[in-house]
Amino acid sequence: MSDRVLIAGNWKMNLDPDEGARFMEQFVLDAAGRAEVLLFPPALTLDSVRRALLEDPPARRVSLGVQNIHPEAAGAFTGEISAEMASAAGAEFVLVGHSERRALFGETLGDTRAKVSAVQRARLVPLLCVGETLEERKRGELERVLVGQLDAVIGTESIRDGVIAGGAFVLAYEPVWAIGTGETATPGDAAEAHALLRSLLSERLSPAVSDRVPILYGGSVKPDNAAELLNAPEVSGVLVGGASLDPESFAAIVRAAG
Ligand code: PGA
Repeated sequence: MSDRVLIAGNWKMNLDPDEGARFMEQFVLDAAGRAEVLLFPPALTLDSVRRALLEDPPARRVSLGVQNIHPEAAGAFTGEISAEMASAAGAEFVLVGHSERRALFGETLGDTRAKVSAVQRARLVPLLCVGETLEERKRGELERVLVGQLDAVIGTESIRDGVIAGGAFVLAYEPVWAIGTGETATPGDAAEAHALLRSLLSERLSPAVSDRVPILYGGSVKPDNAAELLNAPEVSGVLVGGASLDPESFAAIVRAAG
């Protein structure tokens, strides 16, 4: 398994440019910590966070990403941004397939495939989110859902070849029933799903390539449960929503990674 530890914060539609700058003033990181920190502000706030990082050398461990892109590089797509634009604005990562995109904006498996391809075309790193709903879990469909969501992307020859050729890829297991609900998967639930994803990656790519793919857990991660989730087998980091909006609680989650 990858020995990187990634702590990612997804601000969703929160924190405008001024609020993002204030967050960065209060977000104090221990320079000796081992975690890589990823922040996904709203696209309009990215630049104010980027400027704050330029001024603050200890924050070199922080990389930026956007929460969504359109698969095309440019064109008549009102309201959209491309992976190439995100890259030019300082993003290195792109969230793809977040459950809110799938459930509220109707994103299909085909959309996630096209977006991951576009992210790779722009030489950014896709952070693909997968996870089952409560109904799917109760029906015993965890494996079917995860295989379907992962295969829609990694089963594609060009994407698979891109990952194998050294292109970075990050996966997040986010059970939909744990997102924004205060319900968290137990470390055992997380370990089970992560082991399944790891073995799928290993089959589809190769054991060596699969080992380089960090698998993050997401869903109501807070300062008081971060350490036990981070210690679960196969958990390489966490993707945090609500608790990433407060600079102190997000810094406490980063510290939990050591
Ligand atoms: P949450 O969100 O931490 O607020 O549950 C997680 C996510 O949506 O990635």
